[in-house]
Amino acid sequence: MSDRPTMTTTAGAPVPDNQNSLTAGPRGGIMLQDYQLIEKLAHQNRERIPERVVHAKGWGAFGTLTITGDISKYTKAKCLQPGASTPMLARFSTVAGEQGAADHERDVRGFALKFYTEDGNWDLVGNNTPVFFVRDPYKFPDFIHTQKRHPKTNLRSATAMWDFWSLSPESLHQVTILMSDRGLPQTPMHMNGYGSHTFSFWNDAGERYWVKFHFKTQQGHKHFTNEEGEAIIGKTREGYQEALFGTIEAGEFPRWTVQVQIMPELDADKTPYNPFDLTKVWPHSDYPPIDIGVMELNRNAENYFAEIENAAFSPSNIVPGIAYSPDKMLQARVFSYADAHRHRLGTHYENIPVNQPRCPVHHYHRDGQMNTYGGIRTGNPDAYYEPNSFNGPVENKTAQEPPLRISGDMSRFNHREGNDDYGQPRALFNLFDDGQKARLFSNIAAAMGGVPGEIIERQLAHFKLVHPDYEAGVRAALESAHGYKADTISADKPQAAE
Ligand code: NDP
Ligand code: HEM
Repeated sequence: MSDRPTMTTTAGAPVPDNQNSLTAGPRGGIMLQDYQLIEKLAHQNRERIPERVVHAKGWGAFGTLTITGDISKYTKAKCLQPGASTPMLARFSTVAGEQGAADHERDVRGFALKFYTEDGNWDLVGNNTPVFFVRDPYKFPDFIHTQKRHPKTNLRSATAMWDFWSLSPESLHQVTILMSDRGLPQTPMHMNGYGSHTFSFWNDAGERYWVKFHFKTQQGHKHFTNEEGEAIIGKTREGYQEALFGTIEAGEFPRWTVQVQIMPELDADKTPYNPFDLTKVWPHSDYPPIDIGVMELNRNAENYFAEIENAAFSPSNIVPGIAYSPDKMLQARVFSYADAHRHRLGTHYENIPVNQPRCPVHHYHRDGQMNTYGGIRTGNPDAYYEPNSFNGPVENKTAQEPPLRISGDMSRFNHREGNDDYGQPRALFNLFDDGQKARLFSNIAAAMGGVPGEIIERQLAHFKLVHPDYEAGVRAALESAHGYKADTISADKPQAAE
């Protein structure tokens, strides 16, 4: 008898043979009553769950958020008080590629964080960029369609991408970052993360402040050129997983300095830009970043599927002291993620260990598929509705955020009217040195291969409004990369979809 545990069926009965299927004679056929054989094949058929509709390829690790600064006058969030230390999970990702995509592709990187606080899970589901391609969630599915495969060719389509971008000038800021050095970080450890949206803080006195979150890499920014990225993909498609997993396994723990920008509530009426517009940053000179602590990743998952693939991040997960803002994109995301999780992971996705809060959970949702917590979660079988007289859990008014000032007539307001889509991309362009500008031009030219001239000209007209050098640089790069000439095309007027 071996001292190893006995292998069992899923029903717990010992398995006598896991090498030979049950057959009539040594040559077969196989008996239908070989339940274990059928069970193995059936389970294998169900091993895959739907991949995330976006951000399917990812890399994750656990760590700690440690707060050293004092922002208690802005927020009552317990996990943000001086000295607080909160366990957390990070998952980094590319946006467009499928689960098997190569890691070193030019793309925006997801920067999703789950903080297991004593008041429940707080998720900050950001990117490695402070802005985004669109500012109205109505356009998000359209934008993502341009990033995914063409329905007929089943190939990624540069034409679709530049067609959409050139008709959506609000994308210029993010497109410029994507095509700059920061569009291809060497590893997830060598990039910043941004909460991107404007959120709010609220304090014990019921005062609200607007806030943006920044995570600044302490490893330094490191990027690859397209050619370096291609050379790496030729050797390994899993470069990020290798780097992140290997670094943490070697005991070298990556860190990010955590910063917030704070805006007093009424300033939102005064800024020359809409502070809830996800295509805009708040200039550092107006709202200086304040250091509040450090995020460190120090533990790899024991099982990738259970802890990283099953992780369910959602911007809807906030805790007392932190709230949303009028950002339209954020509001759509507050709906969208839990809906995605119910589809991808099931009704009780929050009961999967990696998603479970590390504080008591009491609610009145009942039953449902894969309910493993006994039907109800109130702590008392008689308290299965609310209000009740059986000491069931009750609401707690201290978790109520202060009233949010909103007003206005209901309409479909044109989000492009009166919006400067060129000023902030210009500020960014002006930050680049000559080498950075040259790489920006050649990255854009490379990404425009095969795009019809009319679309290229429409996009060049937008670049010209950012800076004449931007347009001239990309045009020259197009000429040298593709022999592109604009002789027959006249489209010097930028257009946007109505
Ligand atoms: P600042 O000069 O105060 O800030 C510039 C910031 O730009 C830097 O702090 C850095 O942000 C970021 N940056 C530097 N080089 C690059 C690069 N190659 N690619 C992308 N970002 C880079 O000016 P402003 O605050 O007025 O911002 C000017 C422009 O900088 C903005 O229009 C925006 O495009 C970009 N930016 C601004 C951020 C903000 O929150 N204000 C954040 C990130 C970019 P970091 O310290 O976060 O690395
Ligand atoms: C993943 C929707 C905008 C960052 C996802 C997923 C959906 C989604 C459905 C898959 C979730 C899952 O299956 O677990 C949307 C919608 C958006 C939007 C509807 C706009 C209206 C954004 C923005 C950011 C962002 C603006 C960053 C600032 C991410 C990240 C992930 C993700 C990081 C991966 C999370 C993980 O690692 O599991 N998004 N998204 N998304 N999204 Fe968005």
